[in-house]
Amino acid sequence: MAPLYSTLVAALAGASMATGYQANRPGTQNRYIFAKPYDQSFLDGYSVLKHVGGQGPYSNRQSYGIGRDPPGGCAVDQVIMLKRHGERWPDPGPAANFKTSLNKIYSTNTTSFTGALSFLNSWEYFVPGNRYIALESYNGPYAGLLDGYRHGAEYGVRYGHLWDPTAANITIPMFSSGYERILTTARKFGEGFFGWNYTDVVAMNIIPEQVYMGANSLTPTCLKDNDTAICSQLTASNLQPQFNVAAARLNSQTRNLNLNATDIYNLMQMTAYELNVRGYSDWVDVFSLDEWVAFGYTQDLSYYYCSGPGDKNMRAVGAVYANASLTLLNEGPEKAGAIYLNFCHDTNITPVLAALGLSSPAQDLPLDHIPFPNDYNTANIVPMGGHLTIERLTCNATVNTEAGVYVRHVLNEAVVPFTGCQTGPGFSCSLSNYTSLLSSSLPNFIQTCGFNSSYPQYLDFWWNYNTTHAYNFETQSPIPAEEGLLTYQGTAA
Ligand SMILES: *[C@@H]1O[C@H](CO)[C@@H](O)[C@H](O)[C@H]1NC(C)=O
Ligand SMILES: *[C@@H]1O[C@H](CO)[C@@H](O)[C@H](O)[C@H]1NC(C)=O
Ligand SMILES: *[C@@H]1O[C@H](CO)[C@@H](O)[C@H](O)[C@H]1NC(C)=O
Ligand SMILES: *[C@@H]1O[C@H](CO)[C@@H](O)[C@H](O)[C@H]1NC(C)=O
Ligand SMILES: *[C@@H]1O[C@H](CO)[C@@H](O)[C@H](O)[C@H]1NC(C)=O
Ligand SMILES: *[C@@H]1O[C@H](CO)[C@@H](O)[C@H](O)[C@H]1NC(C)=O
Ligand SMILES: *[C@@H]1O[C@H](CO)[C@@H](O)[C@H](O)[C@H]1NC(C)=O
Ligand SMILES: *[C@@H]1O[C@H](CO)[C@@H](O)[C@H](O)[C@H]1NC(C)=O
Ligand SMILES: *[C@@H]1O[C@H](CO)[C@@H](O)[C@H](O)[C@H]1NC(C)=O
Ligand SMILES: *[C@@H]1O[C@H](CO)[C@@H](O)[C@H](O)[C@H]1NC(C)=O
Repeated sequence: MAPLYSTLVAALAGASMATGYQANRPGTQNRYIFAKPYDQSFLDGYSVLKHVGGQGPYSNRQSYGIGRDPPGGCAVDQVIMLKRHGERWPDPGPAANFKTSLNKIYSTNTTSFTGALSFLNSWEYFVPGNRYIALESYNGPYAGLLDGYRHGAEYGVRYGHLWDPTAANITIPMFSSGYERILTTARKFGEGFFGWNYTDVVAMNIIPEQVYMGANSLTPTCLKDNDTAICSQLTASNLQPQFNVAAARLNSQTRNLNLNATDIYNLMQMTAYELNVRGYSDWVDVFSLDEWVAFGYTQDLSYYYCSGPGDKNMRAVGAVYANASLTLLNEGPEKAGAIYLNFCHDTNITPVLAALGLSSPAQDLPLDHIPFPNDYNTANIVPMGGHLTIERLTCNATVNTEAGVYVRHVLNEAVVPFTGCQTGPGFSCSLSNYTSLLSSSLPNFIQTCGFNSSYPQYLDFWWNYNTTHAYNFETQSPIPAEEGLLTYQGTAA
């Protein structure tokens, strides 16, 4: 044993470490035999990122195990993407709540924190001033601007074949709703996707978020949102038992501390933003995983009942984008163009998913307990940087399927088969079946949402875009001088 042992130690400690310990068998020379070629951990469900709802850093959707690349014999010939802005600093309302709850802690006048909050002896609040409020974060591993650029760079590899950089004098439009953080995300994405060609090839179109845009919008609203019964009753402290337990625990560790369930909610929400901004947060470990699950579920309830399938008008809101996409898919790349990159808010994507029947649970989410399984986990649906990608596939015949055109939905990089139609290659749906199923199921936005004939009646900007490059880059500091949001309403840039 001894000689073998010392040989092994020498091998591990010696020069071979520089190149890795390599097997001495034919065909394995370049393999690191101690590295697992297939990861066995699959821990992504057991991560705080799956329980920060839509407030925290992006993570891919937990997949059904369907390959992300086009199925064998298929190629993507058109892509239509709808992406939320990237990770960001908090909005003014939540930021004020964070300060209120932090002040409760600091006003105990504790000079030396102990227990779970002992990190507060050196911690500093991460929002240095109002000028960052609501903007994309830019440093750290989860920086929103990095999300936009990296996602663009990855999609440039995946979908770069859909445009020809050697062609002369081409314009590819991109579409951002008129909100600063969304526009900055779109620009970074475009730079990642098109590289040096971004400046000359892309025409950034800014679609105002205003109600007067009617259906010609990436952010349509509903004038008759009469389904507010549950939505308006949801409060920050839904699921108070879990938050009360956390409050009692922290209060017991610090003299004079009197946090309640609302404060726990605020502090957990703040944690998600510290991750967006700093990339780490000591607050993560202040709360148990069960408490994080409870926090995540408050977010699921809010999206589900206020901007998702639990609000009966939201399918109609999402039908605008779903219907227009259907037109693009049927026109195909020759007539309509191959690349449609669109940017908006989380609550503009959840209605589209509802209209497409993606991620809609069979039953309404319960208000009094956390269901298992929970098919409406916000972190799988609209995390920061979340996105729905519709792929049009042209496929050769296979043993099971005919040659033809097929459609796939990819949500946060996981293929999500269309309900009722998934017999195509890679669980896709033939374009003709997709078209007939979807067009007969989409509600009428104009009627349902109460827009009269003076409003634009359908989404038109994909066919009537502007070719100016004027909005491709910032022409002023992206940071507002005062607290408040810079919104871009077409010409403000
Ligand atoms: C489909 O078949 C043709 C002819 O064999 C081949 O040239 C093409 O590469 C195939 N397409 C895909 C996506 O595999
Ligand atoms: C903390 O100190 C301030 C200022 O000295 C004082 O007004 C306040 O009552 C103190 N709070 C507690 C809980 O002792
Ligand atoms: C892309 O950039 C390269 C390098 O500058 C240039 O040669 C090419 O013409 C550009 N393509 C388009 C479509 O502008
Ligand atoms: C480029 O295209 C635009 C509009 O399609 C046209 O007006 C212009 O003359 C073209 N320029 C060149 C150099 O071909
Ligand atoms: C917690 O305390 C704040 C005041 O600091 C109050 O506004 C809020 O309603 C309280 N929340 C609960 C659930 O009692
Ligand atoms: C509420 O919305 C539904 C459509 O979802 C509509 O049929 C109904 O008339 C609306 N009620 C009111 C009072 O607006
Ligand atoms: C669907 O889209 C097409 C083309 O974009 C448009 O002509 C049609 O009016 C739309 N239908 C509805 C119900 O919005
Ligand atoms: C399309 O729908 C028809 C009728 O339901 C069905 O027979 C056919 O198999 C479907 N084709 C695909 C590719 O899903
Ligand atoms: C449409 O509605 C707007 C505001 O709701 C109103 O000002 C306008 O007069 C209406 N137009 C028509 C043609 O009914
Ligand atoms: C294009 O520019 C015109 C003139 O500024 C504007 O009225 C229109 O809304 C713009 N369209 C888009 C899609 O941005």
